[in-house]
Amino acid sequence: MAREFSTVGVVGLGTMGAGIVEVFARNGIDVVAVEISEPALERGRATLTASTDRAVAKGKLAPADRDALHERVHFAVGLPALHSVDLVIEAVPEHLDLKQRIFAELDRVCRPEAILATNTSSLSVTEISVATTRPNQVIGIHFFNPAPVMKLVEVVRTVVTSPEVVADVEALCARLGKVDVTINDRAGFIANALLFGYLNHAVAMVESHYAAREDIDAAMKLGCGLPMGPLALMDLIGLDTAYEILDTMYRRGGRDRRHAPVPLLKQMVTAGLLGRKSGRGFYTYERPGSPVVVPDGATDAAVADGARAIYAEVGIGSARSELASPAVVTKVGIVGSGTMATGIIEVFAKAGYEVVSVTRGAEKSATVCEAVKTSLNKGVVRGRLTEADRDAALGRIGWSATLDHLADVDLVVEAVVEELSVKKALFASLDEICKPGVVLATTTSSLPVIDVAMATHRPADVVGLHFFNPAPVMPLVEVVRTIRTSPEATATVRAVCAALGKTGVVCGDRSGFIVNALLFPYLNDAVKMLEASYSTADDIDHAMKLGCGYPMGPFELLDVVGLDIALAIQRELYLELREPGFAPAPLLEHLVTAGYLGRKTRRGFRDHSHR
Ligand SMILES: NC(=O)c1ccc[n+]([C@@H]2O[C@H](COP(=O)([O-])OP(=O)(O)OC[C@H]3O[C@@H](n4cnc5c(N)ncnc54)[C@H](O)[C@@H]3O)[C@@H](O)[C@H]2O)c1
Repeated sequence: MAREFSTVGVVGLGTMGAGIVEVFARNGIDVVAVEISEPALERGRATLTASTDRAVAKGKLAPADRDALHERVHFAVGLPALHSVDLVIEAVPEHLDLKQRIFAELDRVCRPEAILATNTSSLSVTEISVATTRPNQVIGIHFFNPAPVMKLVEVVRTVVTSPEVVADVEALCARLGKVDVTINDRAGFIANALLFGYLNHAVAMVESHYAAREDIDAAMKLGCGLPMGPLALMDLIGLDTAYEILDTMYRRGGRDRRHAPVPLLKQMVTAGLLGRKSGRGFYTYERPGSPVVVPDGATDAAVADGARAIYAEVGIGSARSELASPAVVTKVGIVGSGTMATGIIEVFAKAGYEVVSVTRGAEKSATVCEAVKTSLNKGVVRGRLTEADRDAALGRIGWSATLDHLADVDLVVEAVVEELSVKKALFASLDEICKPGVVLATTTSSLPVIDVAMATHRPADVVGLHFFNPAPVMPLVEVVRTIRTSPEATATVRAVCAALGKTGVVCGDRSGFIVNALLFPYLNDAVKMLEASYSTADDIDHAMKLGCGYPMGPFELLDVVGLDIALAIQRELYLELREPGFAPAPLLEHLVTAGYLGRKTRRGFRDHSHR
């Protein structure tokens, strides 16, 4: 028989604690909610009230249930109020000495049979437990932010946690409607171990002015389907908490430099920019605690006025916008005959551009033309496109097998094979043929754009235009500017992206651009975690989906993307950035060698032969 939990205590009513109180009270459990002072208690009460009022406003909670929920919560200052609870969850700031002091006191005030749990994200549950005389009754119960919404709970057992306590806590999670994964005590557990290197990397991108905050966030939302971008997530977590988690993970997790907090973070914390809770972090919010972002000095001018201004480099708190006028583009040349070229031709033609498609021969042009027709017809069948629109789009495309027909286009998009020598030769030819001032864009996903640019005498006019596959569907385009690209060329392609109905995000010319540089190391880390037997592929996938709201877990995604592609991208990142943590996971290499490439070979991390 699982133990009955009728009253629980929550210590610390900040970002996490207030949400945890709500989770228990919503599920019919009485809560003693404890803070360090009256003002802090009031803040916690206000957070709970605001959250439950929002739930009522959204129709997710009946007013009577809200009132009953509040009646179950008893607020108090000081730990002695917890003398008769069955379980305590501590959610105070992420400092080991503070948590140890609190656990020592909890041990004195709580009933001997009470379970003492910590919501720590990165500290050692074992080290916290030895501050008590009952380490076998100490456990980690790691909720995700926002606690009332996210389904996952990581249950962390130490080497001394008793199996009954683990079972009781697992049963409690089920009663709360949560899905638990039970794991051993390791820095960052599953989700944070995979998340924080990525978050820190995104902060490094802001710090180095590699890309603007809005662009980094848009890239990960639109390119990977994540519920929020990394910088908005940092603001939600709280920059002080994130700093402590990174710092602890760095020290506990083998001094992986990717977890060494980026200096900008420390500066922001010192300056009181803690994220949503203080009203300002990477973004500025309507007021402290509000989720509503308001424009500030660093707001992208292009977003603000939707017009000519483009914002080239942004530091937090400083708006260094670069004003440049985009050139008028009406006629576009697209070179190539593969999947990407075909999709890009369709995208431009549908958006009203006059298109010149150049392939290596009439036969290839015929194939591409058929593919474009088939795709447009699908749009008609699905009711997304009228027959007249389809015919007009097809009528706008000219088919050619010679580059000479690109003499009068305003923009060229190259989407030929991913080989530098081929692209360089092509750009040298384009340089001879195209009129001056034309923007020359490459869709490369891995080659340095500057190499391609320097094959011409007009590197200022060369940019990267990285579409995602399938181009007609994916809303994101990465606009890559090299150190020679002019602001006008960047402004022009950004305006073109907007006219295509895509979000163009601007970034520097580095391996992986924004999306792949942030995504693939995380996937690689998941493989390393599996390889270390810390958890299973199923639990790791669960953790990322239910704890972080990702549309797919890392192993599901790897099987879709293809393990060979993932390995190739990871190798490139490793070679260019020389970051030891980016070294491809040996297990990934072995699976590729074995021919287990994912869904396309019916076997990757999972067996797809019967599905
Ligand atoms: N923020 C997140 O996204 C997140 C997610 C999961 C877990 N966590 C973990 O949850 C814990 C709390 O983090 P947070 O982000 O909620 O922090 P927070 O700073 O938002 O809140 C901490 C609260 O603890 C209170 N407090 C401090 N000392 C206290 C004491 N002696 N007694 C009672 N209350 C005290 C503070 O007044 C504050 O309200 C940390 O261990 C953190 O790692 C955070």
